[in-house]
Amino acid sequence: MIFNKLPSRLGGLLAIVVAAQAAYTVQDSYDQTNFFEGFEFFNYPDPTNGFVKYQSAVEANSMSLAGYANEGVYLGVDYKTMDTSAGRGSVRVNSKKTYNEGLIIADIAHQPAAQCGTWPAFWTVGPHWPYDGEIDIIEGVNLATNTTYTLHTGPGCTFTQGDCNAPGTGNTGCGTPSHDTQTLADGFNEIGGGVYALEWTSSAINIFFFPRTGAIPADITAGTPDPSKWGSPSTSFTGSGCDISSHFKNHQIVFDTTLCGDWAGKVFSEDPVCGTKAATCQEYVKNNPSAFKDSYWLINSVKVYSDDSSPAAKRNTGIARRFNA
Ligand SMILES: *[C@@H]1O[C@H](CO)[C@@H](O)[C@H](O)[C@H]1NC(C)=O
Repeated sequence: MIFNKLPSRLGGLLAIVVAAQAAYTVQDSYDQTNFFEGFEFFNYPDPTNGFVKYQSAVEANSMSLAGYANEGVYLGVDYKTMDTSAGRGSVRVNSKKTYNEGLIIADIAHQPAAQCGTWPAFWTVGPHWPYDGEIDIIEGVNLATNTTYTLHTGPGCTFTQGDCNAPGTGNTGCGTPSHDTQTLADGFNEIGGGVYALEWTSSAINIFFFPRTGAIPADITAGTPDPSKWGSPSTSFTGSGCDISSHFKNHQIVFDTTLCGDWAGKVFSEDPVCGTKAATCQEYVKNNPSAFKDSYWLINSVKVYSDDSSPAAKRNTGIARRFNA
């Protein structure tokens, strides 16, 4: 910030000017030069009961399930092994750092393709689920055609999208499908992917999606993002029904691809296409390794920007407690 160099007696005046608009400065940048230094492998049993065996860094490396590839970060699913009685190999990684508010911008080249049995997700989550909140940015199961933006919280957080605690409805949270087929799976991959931005402030959680083809704002490419110039977000969670600061805390950034489990597995048989392929999701995933060749993420970068005028940014330096399985 050039303002830091100005004489301090001008500070009060400048503070007013700056406060009118969040000024985001880059805090962390993860890409093919450092991603696996900032993200760690979660290799516990899947909390969502997937038919999956999340691998450690060493295992993932030896099975070629994670690494730097094609100038991006590759995170894949085992598409070679037939005998997967303990679940098919896959990876789940989370940022070591935790974040409070800010702007998270992910440039993604490829998502897991539309495929029966898969449940990929790009999301953020706090240490005490659901009380510290969860923000699902990219998520879909089986042959879903568009991402569903969803929040999960403890009791007492409601937006126009619904009650984020969603009691009694099987953890559905609050959310809405994007209805944009470029946001997920094959529709996303066909255009070379794009950029997702999560703008998280004390008054709103906004999610933006910019397809690769000509729509990525120049300020994102330049590393000086200004969401106030981007137009309407794809979805906006805002209003007096939720105190965002008390329901969303200390989030880690997560990428994973699980298989079957509480969502993909539960609706597998109901899907008109998947339901004809095998009696159960597990049976399909177990017996069809090659179906998962395109079930990979290819991430160009994840950049976290903080608004230096926000008190929350000062809490962002901590290293997270490790997830409990
Ligand atoms: C988006 O996904 C929902 C299910 O999550 C589906 O009902 C809807 O038809 C999809 N919309 C488009 C445009 O594909």
